Amino acid sequence: MVSVKFASLFAFVAASMVAAAPAALKKRADIDTTILQYALTLEHLEAKFYHTALKNLSAKDFANAGYAPAIRERFAEIGGHEIQHVQFLEAAIGADANKACTYDFGAGVTDVKSFIATSQLLEGVGVSAYLGAAALITNPTYLTAAGSILTTESRHSAWVQSSAALSDPAGAAYDVPTNFNQTYSLAAPLIKSCPKSNTALPVMAFPTLTLNPASNLQPGQTVSVSGKGVKDGQYLAVLTAGGQYFSKIENGKATVPKKTSTGRSYFLVTSSNGTVSDDSTIAGPVASDYLLSASQAYDLVKSQY
Ligand SMILES: *[C@@H]1O[C@H](CO)[C@@H](O)[C@H](O)[C@H]1NC(C)=O
Ligand SMILES: *[C@@H]1O[C@H](CO)[C@@H](O)[C@H](O)[C@H]1NC(C)=O
Ligand SMILES: *[C@@H]1O[C@H](CO)[C@@H](O)[C@H](O)[C@H]1NC(C)=O
Repeated sequence: MVSVKFASLFAFVAASMVAAAPAALKKRADIDTTILQYALTLEHLEAKFYHTALKNLSAKDFANAGYAPAIRERFAEIGGHEIQHVQFLEAAIGADANKACTYDFGAGVTDVKSFIATSQLLEGVGVSAYLGAAALITNPTYLTAAGSILTTESRHSAWVQSSAALSDPAGAAYDVPTNFNQTYSLAAPLIKSCPKSNTALPVMAFPTLTLNPASNLQPGQTVSVSGKGVKDGQYLAVLTAGGQYFSKIENGKATVPKKTSTGRSYFLVTSSNGTVSDDSTIAGPVASDYLLSASQAYDLVKSQY
């Protein structure tokens, strides 16, 4: 049972990676540089986010929102790591390293609860992005460096989930990889403009997907689905720790697929129900957590063992 699940997970990861590596990118000799610039795009975003928020949100703001002083201090430590990731990637890329953009973090830098929610989103996006890019990195030294950033982002994510958001640090046995355009689509709403001198990356953002309810979606739940280009007859697709699942959109609504597994998942709208690829994507992704209590999660697995 366990090995079948494992095999299907890796078939799924392999399939999404093939879909994630466009011919144009695969052929480029400088693919590693492109990946480093892409990682730098995310690290600049994270570093600026923590820097701006913590400059603005004082220990008193955290206390007023009900958080112990150690919580804000830990976020400052995390922000420091993101600055070091920026510096590492800048050194690896050299003079061509892209500069930070200007960002709009909205309430994420003015309200403690929104700050924590944005941190949860960004740390999870970081994990999915490094995981998705790993298979494309050709230089083993960069692969180890990216892996060491990935494990650190994953611990950030786990701490934010558990200690700051009082939620589940590891809601599933696997994390979900996202490809370049999926990752960029998750980050793009926060990016206002970038310096003209920056090297353009081969990424684009899909139209925004609006789901209602917007998060913590449960299998079997009805959700309304809208966005530019979204129509009845298309599919609500979900990338989960256990595979990709689809359900048809009818009257602007869809059912969250029953097989949706626990943990962080990404919802998109696709034109077909085969495999999620850039070609089949209409809108999204949107990140959502489906979490069980610790004992429910264990009982579910134990019954299959
Ligand atoms: C800092 O927070 C205040 C509200 O507390 C907000 O008005 C202001 O725009 C924030 N500053 C920045 C730079 O985000
Ligand atoms: C992102 O999508 C665009 C348009 O479909 C495509 O040309 C590009 O190759 C994609 N980028 C990556 C890195 O997959
Ligand atoms: C997936 O699409 C095929 C047609 O391409 C259809 O026969 C099948 O019922 C669809 N499955 C779902 C879950 O909508």
